[in-house]
Amino acid sequence: MSDTWRIVEEELSKPSLFRSRESLMPEHLPDKLPHRESEIRSLVSYFKHLVHDPGSISQRVLIIGGVGTGKTALSKLFGKIFTRTAREKGYNVSYVHVNCHRNRTLYNIIYDIARQLALPIPSRGLSAKEMFDALLVFLDELDQYVIVALDEFHYFASLSQSDAVYFLARTYEAYEGSKRINFVFIASDTSKLAFLDPVTEGYLLRHVIKLLPYTSTQLHDILKYRASIAFFEGVYDDEVLKAIADYEGVDKGGGGNARHALEALLLAGDLAEKDGARRITIEHVRRSLASLSREIVSVSEFIKHSSLHELLVLLAIIKLLRRSGVREVRIGDVEEEYRSICEYYGEIPRKHTQVYEYIQSLSRAGVVSAHPSGRGHRGRSTMVSIDYGPLDVLENYVVETIKKRRELGL
Ligand SMILES: Nc1ncnc2c1ncn2[C@@H]1O[C@H](COP(=O)(O)OP(=O)(O)OP(=O)(O)O)[C@@H](O)[C@H]1O
Ligand SMILES: [Mg+2]
Repeated sequence: MSDTWRIVEEELSKPSLFRSRESLMPEHLPDKLPHRESEIRSLVSYFKHLVHDPGSISQRVLIIGGVGTGKTALSKLFGKIFTRTAREKGYNVSYVHVNCHRNRTLYNIIYDIARQLALPIPSRGLSAKEMFDALLVFLDELDQYVIVALDEFHYFASLSQSDAVYFLARTYEAYEGSKRINFVFIASDTSKLAFLDPVTEGYLLRHVIKLLPYTSTQLHDILKYRASIAFFEGVYDDEVLKAIADYEGVDKGGGGNARHALEALLLAGDLAEKDGARRITIEHVRRSLASLSREIVSVSEFIKHSSLHELLVLLAIIKLLRRSGVREVRIGDVEEEYRSICEYYGEIPRKHTQVYEYIQSLSRAGVVSAHPSGRGHRGRSTMVSIDYGPLDVLENYVVETIKKRRELGL
């Protein structure tokens, strides 16, 4: 047998450490969510009219919580089990999950709801409101009730006209018939909704479920459960899970983010498998945690190919964010910082429109996020943020690249 054949054979016959690697992927919905039981109970109690007195009210609940606190998983798992139970009891209740990051207009949201419910609503020729009316007619005909989850709702709220948000938040306000649509709004925090008019905001804030970042003990339980499904027995020991939970737990200075913790576990498993090891060791966990700032790794490709002035603008954003300690900065302030950085490097600053274009291109590449400010700010402006880190590592990398670029005279 040739060497290559032998290598392929050998690699294929290696036993895997994973019983189910897919179960650690972000899109996998687990069967239970340790430490979110009371939140599931709250959701059930908010929506129990759907099996006690369907149509009597249209419920709205807002789930808020930071990144990786389980908002999406909580809503989906609740929706899945609740509708299944309701159907078993003979009630026609469905759950649809709409991502407002992908569907940012009222039209797209309503179209997506209709599509998921498999209602034959034409995609052309109707306005958003006409489509909504058609949806209501179908639901009446089918005697069906729906829980609509609007995930990443703050995207829709910040980008749409307030009457669109108003329309969703206050549907049925003066409606006499059977109220068939209920909402779960999901957002990262209430400040993102603060620019709504007070009445609409009041509607959204009436029933709030707040998810706190996970502590290391909670993450430890979550990892124990998820690891028992993902790996074969004997592949990991508790020390490994504890190390990840301690790194990420909010009480130990971490972000309390379950997604990070699960990513670290998956990566540690992959590293162990690549090493041909039979078990995941603490060293695999260390390596996994060290490379977890892989956003920086992934943006470094783009940075390598950026023009000098694009890099100077990026440096301005990083410096401003670090100095001010806030989450996002105004484009006007970025431009001012950029001009003083140009002065330092002896470069002639580019014009406003060009700076704006650089920021858009950095944003398209996912290096920064740029979005219009909400109404709370004086005047409309573009806000820029960087949602990963650490920023000092990123800054060093950008400064190094600028230095090289200038040495080469590019
Ligand atoms: N209590 C839990 N038990 C088990 N797995 C959990 C738990 N909480 C979160 N997870 C898992 O952690 C990951 C992140 O959760 P999820 O996507 O629901 O967070 P999120 O709050 O929606 O985050 P984002 O703000 O980024 O949208 C998912 O893979 C989810 O299955
Ligand atoms: Mg989510």
